[in-house]
Amino acid sequence: MSGFQLIATSAMGIEALVAKEVRALGYDCTVENGKIEFVGDESAIARANLWLRCADRVKIKAAEFKAETFDELFEGTKAVPWEDYLPSDAEFPVTGKSVKSKLFSVPDCQGIVKKAIVERLKSRYKGTSWFEENGPLFKIEVALLKDVATITIDTSGAGLHKRGYRAAQGPAPIKETLAAALIRLTNWHPDRPFRDPFSGSGTIPIEAALIGQNIAPGFNRDFLCETWPWMSEAVFEKAREEAEDLARYDQPLDITGSDIDPGMVDIARQNANEAGLGGIVTFKQMQVADFTAQEAYGTIVGNPPYGERIGERAEVENMYREMGRAFARLDTWSVYILTADEQFERAYGKKATKKRKLYNGPIKTDLYQFWGPRPPRKTET
Ligand SMILES: C[S@@+](CC[C@H](N)C(=O)[O-])C[C@H]1O[C@@H](n2cnc3c(N)ncnc32)[C@H](O)[C@@H]1O
Repeated sequence: MSGFQLIATSAMGIEALVAKEVRALGYDCTVENGKIEFVGDESAIARANLWLRCADRVKIKAAEFKAETFDELFEGTKAVPWEDYLPSDAEFPVTGKSVKSKLFSVPDCQGIVKKAIVERLKSRYKGTSWFEENGPLFKIEVALLKDVATITIDTSGAGLHKRGYRAAQGPAPIKETLAAALIRLTNWHPDRPFRDPFSGSGTIPIEAALIGQNIAPGFNRDFLCETWPWMSEAVFEKAREEAEDLARYDQPLDITGSDIDPGMVDIARQNANEAGLGGIVTFKQMQVADFTAQEAYGTIVGNPPYGERIGERAEVENMYREMGRAFARLDTWSVYILTADEQFERAYGKKATKKRKLYNGPIKTDLYQFWGPRPPRKTET
């Protein structure tokens, strides 16, 4: 099949970053709340899954239609050529959600969609009245929003944040997709120093290295659609070959993560090794108060504790104060701190150049940005 309607889903607030990534892959797109839509063939599905750093999933939009009654939902679903997607042994669980719609009972909507797909398949796979569903998995979702039903098939399987390198994690790891988004929001360039002084399980430095060497974030994993009979192996093979060709393994990088907790430093090292970046990213034990840098024009990206639990507040404020003092010495550096603490600037001792609202999972946070000066232009010698 060609010309699939595709949707890259994203966390709220980072749609523009995902749209930029989709366009960089060569596909025009439109952007809506949490959805970046584009058209593409099997190769687009493979390339989007492999390359999108900030998106959550890649889905096929099988249908979109107005549905104010169960009849409309049933008929609209049955009109989809499901036989083009699902083989007769497909396993196809249906999940759902409903927002501001007349059809608000999600279990009923799921049931109707399931029944309509079965009816359609029965009429196409003659002689089959009972589907065993013991074949490849197709995860179908019916999403109702303001009486419009959107029916999608997930091509990714595990969410795209699951890169395959995080063998171990700390108590509050940032999602890999958000870590990549934070880096994309900075002025960092791979030939400048990059530091994460709260590196925990190492997600931010590892994502920076993947970006720095242009390594496709999905290089280390498989995707659900690879198990589908119509997705030829050659398509993914070609996409992976392209990724291998585009990687710049010889790009030197100066990336260090540090953390007060030596146990986290060990975990971060393990994860970097798992990502094949063991010799590329450095991790060390250090408290942020001791942060210094001889280099100039570097970038700091950090996701410190937010001090949300009772009793932690004073300690965290004190740490923010120490951080402010340590970073005040770095007059050419740019600093980006993600925290839910609305009083962050007061403790840190400086007003941000810019604040950007972002969600860290369900937690409303801000990315406090302190922009440093631009480095001088390199002159030819
Ligand atoms: C929210 S977690 C960071 C999670 C990390 N981004 C990840 O993906 O795993 C905050 C980290 O800050 C570290 N930390 C707390 N106080 C610190 C301090 N004073 N100096 C440096 N690190 C500190 C904690 O050990 C913890 O690993």
